[in-house]
Amino acid sequence: MGLVPRYPIRTERLVLRPLTQADLDGLVTYRSLPEVCRYVPFEPMDADAVREQLATHWARRGLDEDGQSLGLGVELVGEGVLIGDVLLRWTSEEHRSGEVGYVFHPGYARHGYATEAVHGLLHLAFDDLGLHRVTARVDLRNTPSARLARRLGMREEAHLRENECFKGEWSDELDFAILEQEWRAQHVDGCPDPTLPVAATVVRIPDLAGRELRDAALEIYDRPIGVHLLYRHPLTGAEHYLIRYPPGLTAASHRHSAAHTFIVLDGELEVEGERLGPGSYCHFPAGTVMHHAPAGARGCTFVAVFDGPQDVELVDGEG
Ligand SMILES: CC(C)(COP(=O)(O)OP(=O)(O)OC[C@H]1O[C@@H](n2cnc3c(N)ncnc32)[C@H](O)[C@@H]1OP(=O)(O)O)[C@@H](O)C(=O)NCCC(=O)NCCS
Repeated sequence: MGLVPRYPIRTERLVLRPLTQADLDGLVTYRSLPEVCRYVPFEPMDADAVREQLATHWARRGLDEDGQSLGLGVELVGEGVLIGDVLLRWTSEEHRSGEVGYVFHPGYARHGYATEAVHGLLHLAFDDLGLHRVTARVDLRNTPSARLARRLGMREEAHLRENECFKGEWSDELDFAILEQEWRAQHVDGCPDPTLPVAATVVRIPDLAGRELRDAALEIYDRPIGVHLLYRHPLTGAEHYLIRYPPGLTAASHRHSAAHTFIVLDGELEVEGERLGPGSYCHFPAGTVMHHAPAGARGCTFVAVFDGPQDVELVDGEG
């Protein structure tokens, strides 16, 4: 296995291609800027630093083995100007995993170019290199980067608190990931357009009840629950789930960063001491401390509609 892309790689508005010594000035233009380097693991680069990278790490045109990274320059179609660069790191051949990175010229920000380029990179990762899982690691303060990951349908899986003393300050890291099957699901009708509202999703209740659920062992529950992701908005990260609580489940006190609504389909759910049956609805504002569990012997199946990414946090001794 390995990756030998056919260059140039074309997306709608961009060209991705290997970097060459001719990109020296273009790379220095933005990689020397402190604001560009604020949340990335390198300091502003001068011409010597860029030249050295071009002669070594960025000279690669493909990936032969894991541990290697492929850096590609990004140009606007027809203009020949370097507007940024993207990186695909092949983390593990055994686990078919990789990681993406991206650095763009601030003069070309807020046009969706970085999103489009990383989308192209994910095509290489999943379609050509055959990866199963691709991650992006983002400094919590780097909101444009986190938004980009969410726009691509990457799931926020971890919030690591003060995991690094980064450039002299303790920093939090957000870890995003997308799996091969999630990527394929996004591409059933071709590439999604991150600027368009997603089309309506229609699922009839009997079909919903028959959905296959995956077992998810989450820290907040004493046993695995059944989960099926129904919908994720590519821009806001809002997520809708079909959830099945097994009978007898207990949940630790927790809260979600997003407001959310539960609609019970089957069985009974106990919420704040009240038993809710099929057709019942309850809403939790963002940050509410949650106390709920299945009430009946059959467990409970419900739809959970989150307004945004459903980050969850355990709450000790509150309530
Ligand atoms: C991270 C970084 C690449 C993000 O840049 P960006 O300009 O926000 O990203 P894009 O080019 O994809 O543009 C997306 C923005 O353009 C908007 N946009 C406009 N036209 C668009 C289009 N046709 N398609 C998609 N988005 C479009 C989007 O709504 C979005 O704005 P929002 O974030 O306010 O919602 C950039 O900030 C950067 O290079 N930072 C320095 C290096 C860095 O930190 N890298 C990340 C390390 S983890």
